Amino acid sequence: MSRRVTEPYQKEIVGAKGSIFYRAHSYHTKVPPEGIVPVIEHYTNPGDTVLDPFCGSGMTGVASLLSGRTGVLSDLSPAAVHIASGYNTPNNPERLAAAASSLMAKLAGLERELYGTACSRCDSDARIEYTVWSDTMVCPGCSHEVLFWDSARQPDGTISKNLVCPLCSTSFRKGDAKILPGAPVLVSVACTSCRSREQRPLTTVETAMAHYPHRTDITDWYPTAPLEDWREMWRGQHGKLGIATSADFFTGRNLRALAAVWKIAGESPESLGLRFATTAIVNRASRRYQWNPKRPTNVLSGTLYIASMNYEFNVFSLLRRKLTAVVQLATKVGETSGQSSVTQASATNLKHLQDRSIDYVFTDPPFGANIYYSDASFLWESWLDDFTDTTNEAIVSTSLAAAHGGKSLADYEQLMAASFGEIARVLKRDAWASVMFHSSDDAVWSSLERAIESADLSLESAVAFDKSQPSFKGVKQMTNQEKVSSFDLVLHLHSSAGGVAKRRKSAVGKVAESDVIEAIANHLESANQRQRSTPYIHSLVMRILLERGATFAGYSYGEVEVLLTKNFLLEKSAWSRNPTPDNASSIKIEGTP
Ligand SMILES: C[S@@+](CC[C@H](N)C(=O)[O-])C[C@H]1O[C@@H](n2cnc3c(N)ncnc32)[C@H](O)[C@@H]1O
Ligand SMILES: [Zn+2]
Ligand SMILES: [Zn+2]
Repeated sequence: MSRRVTEPYQKEIVGAKGSIFYRAHSYHTKVPPEGIVPVIEHYTNPGDTVLDPFCGSGMTGVASLLSGRTGVLSDLSPAAVHIASGYNTPNNPERLAAAASSLMAKLAGLERELYGTACSRCDSDARIEYTVWSDTMVCPGCSHEVLFWDSARQPDGTISKNLVCPLCSTSFRKGDAKILPGAPVLVSVACTSCRSREQRPLTTVETAMAHYPHRTDITDWYPTAPLEDWREMWRGQHGKLGIATSADFFTGRNLRALAAVWKIAGESPESLGLRFATTAIVNRASRRYQWNPKRPTNVLSGTLYIASMNYEFNVFSLLRRKLTAVVQLATKVGETSGQSSVTQASATNLKHLQDRSIDYVFTDPPFGANIYYSDASFLWESWLDDFTDTTNEAIVSTSLAAAHGGKSLADYEQLMAASFGEIARVLKRDAWASVMFHSSDDAVWSSLERAIESADLSLESAVAFDKSQPSFKGVKQMTNQEKVSSFDLVLHLHSSAGGVAKRRKSAVGKVAESDVIEAIANHLESANQRQRSTPYIHSLVMRILLERGATFAGYSYGEVEVLLTKNFLLEKSAWSRNPTPDNASSIKIEGTP
């Protein structure tokens, strides 16, 4: 008999990104599972069922395992189902470790053949840990082939897009030049005997190895799914570089290595765990890992971009580390008392679930046009040879034709309404659903709200979810988009009608701007540094509007920023109350002339 929970969870939710559950396999917009645990514990009893119909990498399932609940997961994407299954299926750690050792043993010969070299200090066997590759550009003046590595790197450590031909001195832009297949320019070699690690130009033998093997020499299966030019993430640059299929994202050598790993992993009785480890390294092992003079720039998740200088990491070194992490994950999962199942399904049609069968929902649906999941998962889905059917993908993608999954905001709203309808159907009476959401666009917020109302769910409260404090480096590397959405809200919905959503219908639909300003001022009285940032305050304003039943119109991210600038003081990215008007004139407000 389930306990009746009458109050929504009111605390702010914080999740750290460091645990093995977070690190073992990447996914777009992962939610740290430890943050979800207290929320699940608030709403449910041990053994209860927790549904996440937009499960992604399955972190709600992991939180269910950690809290002794039963996770019921589904997602539209085969990549998500694969990753969520890898996280949530209990693997015997000893058997997995033995299978991992056997996999590496079978591949030892191939590793020597592809990445083996000699140490320049002690002459013992050494391993190429990575090779840096550079594109070759054709000079428009004299057709001389110019290595980007030679011409673009500036003495001050920056990279210039304006190149000068060393032969005829023609200056030209990188973007205007014809590009030829690249060349390896640098290796990093690790010696297993003297333990030295050196970075140096390639020897003749190493250069020959880098160009081997050719695609035609590879006999194991590898993915050749076409990267069609109608995809959201397709760029003219792909055409220019000759990136026409998933195979083109890899060097011949790494493709050969991955194909061998994929085959042997698939034949193992522990294939789920071993293939989970393999997809976990696929992006790093691809040409998407950009070389940068200051530090490696990790694979950018919102694009399928390939830079002009990139890393070719040793597949087996990546795999060895990942297998250790996956065995560690299996041990941790084995220590939990819950269980989770994963199904491939659209949230708009949960036909595998009975009416009134679920105790609680925690979910993180797509936020409008933020991420094109199926494109972002292209390489994973290529290896799985199974692709998202984008017909029901709940995103806004106006640049695509409808036949390719293109959708307007109204289409998105309709898909979200159908999903909330399914959530309302499968939830037990008087149960709760927590939905993560964020958007800098007020129209997307309104859409979401109408979708919630149409399912007769009532919105009872909203709290912030701080997805961990990024390090300073983390902040610097963040794109503007990420900065904007670093604070999500968790909306707590109740399955019996009568709450805020109902009140909203009778509400005036508007809150006076002075009330919003006053609420922000009250918040700033006791807020910490992070709670004074623009992203946090934007999420606070969304919450104020939600809870008071007011329209979102006029409160986009940019408009909230303007409101803050007019009424508050910004110092070191933190807002505070304006000083009294008397001395206000002597203080310069950051960002205003
Ligand atoms: C924000 S992500 C979830 C990430 C997840 N919280 C995690 O920690 O990994 C949203 C997910 O919704 C999925 N999705 C999009 N449309 C869907 C639909 N109609 N039904 C089910 N899943 C869908 C995407 O494939 C994506 O995995
Ligand atoms: Zn020239
Ligand atoms: Zn050595």
